[in-house]
Amino acid sequence: MAYAREKGFADVETMRQWSIENYQEFWADMATRLVDWYVPFSKVLDDSKAPFYQWFNDGKINIAHNALDRHVKTWRKNKLALIWESEKGDNKTYSYWQLFKRVNKFANVLKSMGVKKGDRVTIYLPRIPEIVIAMLACAKIGAMHSVVYGGFSVEALQTRIQDAQSRVVITADGGYMNGKVIELKKITDDAIKHSPVVEIVIVVKRTDHEVEMQQGRDLWYEELMALPIASPKCETEQLDAEHPLYMLYTSGTTGTPKGLVHSHGGYQVGVATTLHFNLDIKEDDVYWCAADPGWVTGHSYIVYGPLMLGATQVMYEGAPTFPFPNRWWNIVERYGVTVLYTAPTAIRGLMRFGEAWPNRHDLSSLRLLGSVGEPINPEAWRWYHRVIGRNNCPIMDTWWQTETGSMMITPNPTTPLKPGSGTRSSFGIDADVVNEQGEHASDDEDGLLIIRNPWPSMLRTIYNNPDRYIEQYWSRIPGVYTAGDSARKDEDGYFWVIGRIDDVIKVSGYRLGTAEVESALVSHPSVAEAAAIGLPHEVKGNAIHTYVILKNGYEANQDLEDTLIAHVGKMMGPIARPENVQFVASLPKTRSGKIMRRVLKARALGLPEGDLSTLEQ
Ligand code: WT7
Repeated sequence: MAYAREKGFADVETMRQWSIENYQEFWADMATRLVDWYVPFSKVLDDSKAPFYQWFNDGKINIAHNALDRHVKTWRKNKLALIWESEKGDNKTYSYWQLFKRVNKFANVLKSMGVKKGDRVTIYLPRIPEIVIAMLACAKIGAMHSVVYGGFSVEALQTRIQDAQSRVVITADGGYMNGKVIELKKITDDAIKHSPVVEIVIVVKRTDHEVEMQQGRDLWYEELMALPIASPKCETEQLDAEHPLYMLYTSGTTGTPKGLVHSHGGYQVGVATTLHFNLDIKEDDVYWCAADPGWVTGHSYIVYGPLMLGATQVMYEGAPTFPFPNRWWNIVERYGVTVLYTAPTAIRGLMRFGEAWPNRHDLSSLRLLGSVGEPINPEAWRWYHRVIGRNNCPIMDTWWQTETGSMMITPNPTTPLKPGSGTRSSFGIDADVVNEQGEHASDDEDGLLIIRNPWPSMLRTIYNNPDRYIEQYWSRIPGVYTAGDSARKDEDGYFWVIGRIDDVIKVSGYRLGTAEVESALVSHPSVAEAAAIGLPHEVKGNAIHTYVILKNGYEANQDLEDTLIAHVGKMMGPIARPENVQFVASLPKTRSGKIMRRVLKARALGLPEGDLSTLEQ
């Protein structure tokens, strides 16, 4: 690794240890090398208001400048930034210059609608280039984007618009997935029926099927982009490093999803550093992160990271199995993808179809693979390594979270690998496993995954709820960040993440709260009470299983079960559809009335029910 050599370290591991011990010096160096500042920072970390840490506080910067503006002044101007392939198979490409101009035009459109620095814009789009353009346009003018994943539905969209108080929503007439149209505009209409705050809906034409356009509120993106106000010249706002870049909602232990806030300055430093060191992106790579821009993986490693590094990337609109299970391998071959970053659930899903599908393709362009979202089981790891990587590509199993903004525990290409382990803390990150008292856990002992030092891309707060930020992440063990995962470290200091210790269920790598599924169920007229738990599932990792107490007068039968499953799907989105609904007469509860999901789970798995002393009798 050039950096380790340049700094005179004997090896990368020595450099990694140095970067953790001297994390402020390390991050300052990264902030200087990898991104440009309008006004350089003089202070690296301000912890005077901890845990509301501030990074590079007095510097001025804008992530859109580092993603686009600076490249168009160099030879990269004409380099391909984005190669987009639709589910149908046609493609569109954008050079840095083309993307830069589109972003400028759309930034001017947003400005003309009165969107100002600090305003929140909700983006609800499918996997099309316009999602990248819309996010960067917000960043450029200092507005915060709040992206809602296109697979979410009415309820999820509505609560997020309300919480963010977005005046402007950007959506599409629809999106393609598995050859079918997802009715994004219709869902948006339903979601904003009860959101008087929304004044303008900008609609991208994607599927061209008929949608209702409300006069005075709904405007076509293409028409706006053709207006004189959509000039291709737009000054980028010079922002304080701590100026908020976006909020992204994610599920937590209780109640409604929380809007996690990320900053312009620190966030880009964390993202650029990890993409550079851990996924090892180089000038001539063809990089493909197969996630959706609507999740944090897409925010960091599709929209911002690759552009900051001046890389060429591929983005694919649709389903991995459309029209056949070789679609991904076909894409890798046709574009010569060199680095592929995806999730264990996708690997397991494609593995099911057998090796004949990937074997039909020349995958020899691949040189490095990545995994993210949940623990990767050794069987899937080995398949990914042997069949996709042809025993020739290291796998970077990257542990991180929406909260952390960028990779935290991950190998780099020089790290000896163990299938299923994310190996060690990344550069500048001090992760550990501790017991409930906060003491360092011994080797192979299960404990809580924590981060000891602050890091630049950490979340700054929960939107409108700073108390919850402190309580959720900084209270369980005072002074350190608690991730909400359990893990252990082996005798080599390698981390093995076990899973969530709160009421979050990871379904196909998607993060869902039991509380959200339960409230979707209870919103159906037949349901009096509901409980949701996650149980192991071969492809999805975990699947949602639910228990329902019906109101008087309703009969438990297959029809009602199907209706309730469909109801949750409609309210929250297809990813939240439960596997089943079990009708029960009562639920195990504590004396204070909290549902004991742990007991439901133990019963379902045939395991001992544990301590029942607080169970209501
Ligand atoms: C949770 C965070 C990070 C972007 C996508 C997920 C689990 C994530 C791994 C991994 C084991 C992992 C954790 C974490 N997780 N990556 N490589 N190995 N577990 O972000 O939706 O905020 O979910 O995903 O449980 O807490 P997220």
